Amino acid sequence: MADEPLVLGIETSCDETGVGIVRGDTLLFDAIASSVDQHARFGGVVPEVASRAHLEEMVPTIERACREAGVALSDVDAIAVTAGPGLAGALLVGVASAKALAVALGTPIYGVNHLASHVAVDIVEHGPLPEPAMAMLVSGGHSSLLLVPDVTHDVRSLGATMDDAAGEAFDKVARVLGLPFPGGPHIDRAAREGNRIAIDFPRGFTSGRDLERHRFDFSFSGLKTAVARWVETRHRAGEAIPVADVAASFQEAVVDVLTRKALLACKEHEVDHLLIGGGVAANSRLRALAQERCDKAGVVLRVPRPELCTDNGAMVATLGAQMVLKGREPSDLGLPADSSMPVTLVQA
Ligand code: KG4
Ligand code: ZN
Repeated sequence: MADEPLVLGIETSCDETGVGIVRGDTLLFDAIASSVDQHARFGGVVPEVASRAHLEEMVPTIERACREAGVALSDVDAIAVTAGPGLAGALLVGVASAKALAVALGTPIYGVNHLASHVAVDIVEHGPLPEPAMAMLVSGGHSSLLLVPDVTHDVRSLGATMDDAAGEAFDKVARVLGLPFPGGPHIDRAAREGNRIAIDFPRGFTSGRDLERHRFDFSFSGLKTAVARWVETRHRAGEAIPVADVAASFQEAVVDVLTRKALLACKEHEVDHLLIGGGVAANSRLRALAQERCDKAGVVLRVPRPELCTDNGAMVATLGAQMVLKGREPSDLGLPADSSMPVTLVQA
């Protein structure tokens, strides 16, 4: 409806320059320019390279988003931007651009948390969020379990990774197996031909004192090391590496822990909706196992489509629009880019 707020959202926390345009809870267009190819040969995102790419892509991506959404910049009611967490230099490009737009257009600005945006984006896909909802965010930079009473101002952290993020583990194991960066989709594909019970890899923080102390926390670095050792031992013995089996068994260890803890959190906090977001939510086995376990537990599973799971501007615009709809105060024009913005701080 034309009287709903038209919000332009800018995301530059990592290697994706994202500009999304949302009206109310309807996504009009989501424009993305990724610098992932420029990082591939380094095996990880190079911050300086990402910042430069954002600077080059920002204006063309804003123009493309407006054109495809069929709106003029002068129609925009509010600007939303990722204020953190993320790479400092990359965030600065987005925040500075958003401030320039807000000043030029005379609109309010909302500096929002990247993680809360990952949760909010499901609104444009599956409608209003149940309050509270449980959210599990799994990507290259974060792995967290969040209790979300209200995505516009009350997000509580139940647990997070103590070492590698889930996506980081996928990327590192892919490297060990000689698969390209980013490794998640390659492992996902290879695993389809493999046996997920071929190798019994460790499941961090799932039993005994570890589980007591880290009930909703994750640890993936032990798993990554176990895979590297297993492969190294075969290499030394001159044996071929069964890539599909290793990929499938590793992937099973990750998604088993993720889904187990997410459902334990739902049960203990009596929440019956689980939302999964972040790049790893694109994983086919994670989606399948989460669905299976949610069905068994009577929990409704919500996972946005893969393009909305990875970093994008639509998620930022969605959260911004929710803030406008709920009457939240805009951010100060002096808002900072905060590379270590805590997950509990929804707005800068
Ligand atoms: O959310 P995202 O685009 O960026 C970050 O904020 O990190 O997530 C990227 C991560 C990478 O680690 C990538 O390997 C992983 O998500 N990923 C996957 C899959 N697709 C992307 N991991 C497992 N299975 C997939 N199908
Ligand atoms: Zn992300």
